[in-house]
Amino acid sequence: MTNPAITAQALRKSYGDKVVLDGIDLTIPEGTVFALLGPNGAGKTTVVKILSTLITADGGEARVGGHDLAAQAQSVRAAIGVTGQFSAVDGLITGEENMLLMADLNHLSKAEGQRVAAELLERFDLVEAAKKPASTYSGGMKRRLDIAMTLVGGPRIIFLDEPTTGLDPRSRHNMWRIIRELVTGGTTVFLTTQYLEEADELADRIAVLNGGRIVAEGSADELKRLVPGGHVRLRFTDPAAHRTAATALPDAARDDEALTLQIPNDGTQRELRAVLDHLDTAGIEADELTVHTPDLDDVFFALTGPDTSVPAQTEQPKETVR
Ligand SMILES: Nc1ncnc2c1ncn2[C@@H]1O[C@H](COP(=O)(O)OP(=O)(O)OP(=O)(O)O)[C@@H](O)[C@H]1O
Ligand SMILES: [Mg+2]
Repeated sequence: MTNPAITAQALRKSYGDKVVLDGIDLTIPEGTVFALLGPNGAGKTTVVKILSTLITADGGEARVGGHDLAAQAQSVRAAIGVTGQFSAVDGLITGEENMLLMADLNHLSKAEGQRVAAELLERFDLVEAAKKPASTYSGGMKRRLDIAMTLVGGPRIIFLDEPTTGLDPRSRHNMWRIIRELVTGGTTVFLTTQYLEEADELADRIAVLNGGRIVAEGSADELKRLVPGGHVRLRFTDPAAHRTAATALPDAARDDEALTLQIPNDGTQRELRAVLDHLDTAGIEADELTVHTPDLDDVFFALTGPDTSVPAQTEQPKETVR
């Protein structure tokens, strides 16, 4: 078995009397994507900053790329690339100059620096903009440049703090493709995100940070199994039909204003048919039927909500059946 790319035990960090990290343990195998999720202020950026040596922990220990974080900070720095939550792009110089500056900082030769910069500008769709000052870039272009800069030194481990925040769907999918390519090449990716879909798409393992601790960890599927949340939602336009259906389906949670019924359902053909049979027997037809399977949003709300004992339900139906 190869050594993990990142391990941490009992990491702690406080600001004044505010405890931000209250004992964080992590093990991230090489060549995998790890996603750290958590609400605003949970401490995600703090974890990234500690593991990338930008700040020190108050307690605990960690190894990154085989090096002890406290004793071998320089070696850790040489092994990693970091894209912070807030841009490191210098607006006064061009995109290309930003890239060449990074190449310089990474001690690449001039020729090598130019080759790598050109390749990354191409990969991040920034060739046209390369000679323009970065201050003229859109938010998404700056974000792409930021991440391209992180890759200049060819780091084996990269930290991406909210890599796709502010990107449009096309740029986001492009970023996901690039992240997957990096991982195929053996790079380890530690990312934080607000987008559960992103963690679902990319991450081998996901950890949810809340209240200073990791409150759940696993693959997307494992996490989804932690919460109930599968249901069928029926919508009516006729209040009388809504009433009749509510009587025919006693398990349903009913909303008299929206004229909807929500019935716990695992989304299998058998359970769906049972609902439809009940409606048929009662001689009613719903105007809309949607099936909701539990997703990471359910997990997130269940684990990080104000009342974490009650799984919340999201509004977005996953799949429209008719
Ligand atoms: N330098 C600092 N001084 C004091 N408090 C800080 C400092 N940096 C972070 N904090 C506090 O630590 C907590 C965690 O912040 P952090 O930036 O790690 O959260 P986050 O999970 O990255 O949030 P977001 O999703 O908003 O980016 C917050 O309450 C924040 O106010
Ligand atoms: Mg943050």
